[in-house]
Amino acid sequence: MSKERYESKERIHDRNKILCNKIFARLSKRNKGKCLILDAETLQTTKALHKVGFKYSDIIIPNPYCYKTLKKRIPKTIELYDVFLGDYINSYKGYTRTFKNAWFDYCGIFEGSVECNPKDDIANYFQKYLPSKGVFAITFKTGRNAKDYLYQDIIEADCYIQETAYQSGYVLVKAGQRFYKGMCFMIYKVSER
Ligand SMILES: C[S@@+](CC[C@H](N)C(=O)[O-])C[C@H]1O[C@@H](n2cnc3c(N)ncnc32)[C@H](O)[C@@H]1O
Repeated sequence: MSKERYESKERIHDRNKILCNKIFARLSKRNKGKCLILDAETLQTTKALHKVGFKYSDIIIPNPYCYKTLKKRIPKTIELYDVFLGDYINSYKGYTRTFKNAWFDYCGIFEGSVECNPKDDIANYFQKYLPSKGVFAITFKTGRNAKDYLYQDIIEADCYIQETAYQSGYVLVKAGQRFYKGMCFMIYKVSER
């Protein structure tokens, strides 16, 4: 497995990251329940959710990169898994649990890598988890796929997310978007169609 590339300690003071966490927590708090998130050693997203009233037992974090550090640091009631997000999602065969809110806060591009495939993660998430009314957010690295026009990768990612969710019975309404330092953050309100 490649080394964890996310410099979480540097990002703790990054106003973009602070703002994205604030937006995610603010929109999520209307839908109390389970939250599936990618969080790092600084637990910025966990803290943001806890601050708006989520219990630690509502938070699920798959992270094989910094599992050991997180395990030592986090409240015991948080569900922490030593697996990739995709493997976590795929470990469920059916509608055995639901999530209200999710933030797939990736470090890499939307097209993914050997270890991480955002397209599959999103398709499987909406197929398997019956999110009902809630929030879905994503972050990914931009700019590598602008073959034909500017922001092509962002527009294509947005289209893929909405279309994939729609095919599984959900309507996504864009509730926020932010571009910073080569990253794209998008957040949607999810409802059943
Ligand atoms: C961008 S950071 C999360 C930052 C956090 N949400 C915050 O706002 O501070 C993503 C974390 O999840 C890990 N990660 C990235 N892709 C992952 C994947 N596909 N499955 C599990 N963990 C992943 C990274 O190594 C990193 O520790």
